[in-house]
Amino acid sequence: MLGNFSYCNPTRLYFGKDALEGLNKELPKYGKNVVLIYGGGSIKKNGIYDKVTEILKANGKTVTEDGGVMPNPTVEKLYEGCEIAKKAKADLLLAVGGGSVCDYAKAVSVSTYCKEDPWEKYYMRFEDVDNEIIPVGCVLTMVGTGSEMNGGSVITNYEKKLKIGHVFGDNVFPKFSVLNPEYTFTLPKYQMVAGFYDIMSHILEQYFSGTDDNTSDYIMEGLMKSLIHSSLIAVENPKDYEARSNIMWTATWALNTLVAMGKTTDWEVHMLGQAVGAHTNATHGMTLAAVSTAYYNFIMPYGLAKFKRFAVNVWNVNPDGKSDEETAKEGIEEMRKWMKKLGLVMTLSELGVKEDMIEGIADSTLVMEGGYKILTREEISDILKKSL
Ligand code: NZQ
Ligand code: ZN
Repeated sequence: MLGNFSYCNPTRLYFGKDALEGLNKELPKYGKNVVLIYGGGSIKKNGIYDKVTEILKANGKTVTEDGGVMPNPTVEKLYEGCEIAKKAKADLLLAVGGGSVCDYAKAVSVSTYCKEDPWEKYYMRFEDVDNEIIPVGCVLTMVGTGSEMNGGSVITNYEKKLKIGHVFGDNVFPKFSVLNPEYTFTLPKYQMVAGFYDIMSHILEQYFSGTDDNTSDYIMEGLMKSLIHSSLIAVENPKDYEARSNIMWTATWALNTLVAMGKTTDWEVHMLGQAVGAHTNATHGMTLAAVSTAYYNFIMPYGLAKFKRFAVNVWNVNPDGKSDEETAKEGIEEMRKWMKKLGLVMTLSELGVKEDMIEGIADSTLVMEGGYKILTREEISDILKKSL
C-alpha cells in the first residue's frame, strides 16, 4: 500500500538539441550577477563553455567564474566556492557539467550564507536550510546522477574519510536544467558507462525495498528495460542520438523523487560505494558496480519474491521448473552479464582497494534501514571482501 506523501518537483527542464535556448528564457528571471561553475575543463574543449558564455553576455550578465570543480567535490572546494559566491553577490549559480558540478552548486547555494560550518550542519547533522539560498540552474554534460532534477548534493571530506550526501528539499532543486543529449557525446567511455550503471543503481535502490504492490515498481521495471536496451546500443555507437536521449531521460526519472513516493527505499549500495569513494576517489558509478553483485547475492534470500519478479519482468528469465531461488539467482546473473558487456569495473581491486583497506571502508559505511536486510558491521566487511 502506498504511504502518504506530498509531491512537487519545481525544476523546469529544457530537453533536446535546442535545449540551450532555454537559457534565454530563464536568465532574465534573475539579477545581474551570475557565477559560472564548471569542472576540470571538458566544457572548454567541447565548445559548451563558449556557447554558454555567449548567451550570458547577450543577456547582459556580469559573470564570475568558479572552475576546477573536481569529480567528487571536496569540502575545501565548497568553502572556496562560498567565498567566490559571496564576493560576487551571486544572484544565480549556473552549473555547467556533470553531477559533481551540479551537486557542488547546490552545496554552495545553501552554504554561502550559512552562519556555521556547512559540513557540520548539512553533512554531519543533516539539518534543513534556514538561511538565504542562492538559486541554481544547470546545463548537464554527463548523465547518471539525476542531480539536474533533485536536491541531492554529495560532498567528500578526505580528511575524515567520509563521502556524504544531503538530500535537500525542493527549495534547493535546480530552478531549471538544460538537457541536450548531444552534450554527452564527448564523454570518455569509462564515464559514460559508469553513468549508465549509476542510473541502474538508483532504480535498484528504490525497487529492492518493500513487499507491497505499488505503481512505482511497474514504472521502475519500464525504466530498467529502456536503460538496458539503450545502453547496449550506446556502448556500440556512443553517438546514437535515440539511445543517448532515452538514457538521459531515464536518468532524470530514476532519481527525480517520483518513483520513491509512498514507498520505502534502500540505498545501501550507495553507502558502500560512497565509503569506497572516500578512500579511493574512484568514479561514483564504478564504486557501485564493484559492490553490487556481492550485495545483491547476499540480500536476495531476504527479499526473494522481489528478486524473482526482477528476474522475470526485467531480464525475461523463464521461471518454469525452477525454484524461486534459482530464478532469482538467474536474474542477478543476467544483470552481471549486462554489466560485463558494458565494460564496467566489477571488482574493488580494479579501483585500487587492497585487503588492508577493507576495515577502514567498513568504518566509513553508513547503515540504512529500508532494504531487505539491515547489515551488521561483519556483513559489511564480508560484502566488501567478496567484492575484492
Ligand atoms: O571536470 P570535467 O572536465 O568537466 O570532466 C568531467 C569529469 O572528469 C567529465 N565530463 C563531464 N561531462 C563531460 C565530461 N567529459 C567530456 N565530455 C563531457 N560532456 O566526466 C568526469 C566525471 O564528471 P562528474 O560530474 O564527476 O560525474 P557524475 O555526473 O557521475 O557525478 C558524480 C558525483 O555525483 C554524486 C556522486 O557521488 C559524485 O560525487 N551523486 C549525486 C547524486 C545526486 N545529486 O542525487 C546521486 C548520485 O548517486 C551520486 O552520489
Ligand atoms: Zn548514484
